[in-house]
Amino acid sequence: MKKTVQCLCFVLILFFSKLSGSEHEKKSSFEAKKATQLAIIKALATRKDTQAEIPKAPEAYAKCTGCHGQDGKTKALGKSEIISGRSEAYLVTAMNAYKAGTRDMSGMGSLMKSQMDAVSNEDIKAIAVYLSSIK
Ligand code: HEC
Repeated sequence: MKKTVQCLCFVLILFFSKLSGSEHEKKSSFEAKKATQLAIIKALATRKDTQAEIPKAPEAYAKCTGCHGQDGKTKALGKSEIISGRSEAYLVTAMNAYKAGTRDMSGMGSLMKSQMDAVSNEDIKAIAVYLSSIK
């Protein structure tokens, strides 16, 4: 009888030491997770905000954003080219052609003509400078 109790105690001690062992493991994996999360938060906090690098858009570009996106990287209606990152000259020529009604009038050009109709030459230039500065 005494032996059985001793034996039982031994088993219990073993059992609990095992438990506390895995408890310890749990804790250290929790610590590891916490460290990873902290590293991610730190990386996010120090991340260079790419949005901040985009210069302020000219007012005249405001009505274009619905189709082309604030950064000009949206294919308008899924059809246009990406308009940012093109050369200033290319953009001025394209916008003037739409405005004059000489570009793609049988297609989407008429839609772009209606967009460009009220945009002044000054604004065309400002929009071109803005869009070409976005890489
Ligand atoms: C209703 C949606 C819409 C709006 C708003 C809009 N566009 Fe467009 N834009 C288009 C579509 C569609 C095309 C493609 C036209 C084509 O196929 O010729 C286009 C083409 C262009 C292109 C030629 C792209 C290339 O590389 O060939 C430029 C530049 C452009 N738009 C600038 C502007 C500017 C600047 C404004 C605001 C003044 C504007 N767009 C507003 C839909 C839009």
